[in-house]
Amino acid sequence: MKGLIAYFSGTGNTEYVVKLVSNEFAKRNIECEIFNIENDKRIKDEYDFYVFASPIHIEVFPKFFIDWLSEKAPAVDNKRCLLLSTQASQVGYGGRQVSRLLERKGYSIVYMRSIPMPNNYYLGKFKATSEDKKLEMVSEVSNEAVAAVEGFLRDDVYIEKQSFYITELSKLVYKLYMPILNNFAKKNLTVDYDICIKCKKCEKGCPVNNIKFDDAIHFDKKCIACQRCVQKCPVNAFKYKGEHFEQLRW
Ligand SMILES: Cc1cc2nc3c(=O)[nH]c(=O)nc-3n(C[C@H](O)[C@H](O)[C@H](O)COP(=O)(O)O)c2cc1C
Repeated sequence: MKGLIAYFSGTGNTEYVVKLVSNEFAKRNIECEIFNIENDKRIKDEYDFYVFASPIHIEVFPKFFIDWLSEKAPAVDNKRCLLLSTQASQVGYGGRQVSRLLERKGYSIVYMRSIPMPNNYYLGKFKATSEDKKLEMVSEVSNEAVAAVEGFLRDDVYIEKQSFYITELSKLVYKLYMPILNNFAKKNLTVDYDICIKCKKCEKGCPVNNIKFDDAIHFDKKCIACQRCVQKCPVNAFKYKGEHFEQLRW
């Protein structure tokens, strides 16, 4: 049996969960290929099962992930799938948001769960997760990976309760926020060139090619606010609304 784990991760939380899940399968002698959806390669209907995982942005999956699911996830003939999100609050609504889409493509969702992880969006009025809470969440997440893999392999269907109304409302709010997200970097981020070492990790790491770095940084208007650029910077050179801030580190 071989599975495919396809994921998007802005700042590493979802990637961390994906690695735990892959290890749990490996402990049970089940091989998984890990596929980052930023890779342009097409994946095929050649796996026995699929795992999809993404962060939650504004209570639902980011458009970047939904677009990939719609356009590039293969159509399959009744393949079992495990659907995961990571988010700062207790519940995210991405699973409910995409379950119809996945079913239409031939996936049978066996396990659907939104896993709490530290907040990676803590600028403006949002608060960073405290260090204590972070440790608590990260230690709990190993149990989540075990529960997901064991539940999935037992074929115990587990679909987390995610409110229909909140999901629909969140989809609408996400749509309304799209222009704000797309302008997030252009409007809010600048670089402190006294600190910047011009390594261009921000440019190379951006999942949507929103950054051009020649002598200075230039942002386009297709940002998804995933915070990758900020997190990739090795010297803390980004400023938010002109002020330095503490970066999230993994
Ligand atoms: C633009 C943006 C919006 C977010 N919105 C939410 C949200 O509505 N609810 C929530 O619980 N967490 C929210 N978060 C926090 C992330 O879901 C959380 O940190 C997630 O684990 C990040 O995963 P990643 O590191 O794989 O990108 C948001 C993060 C970003 C960057």
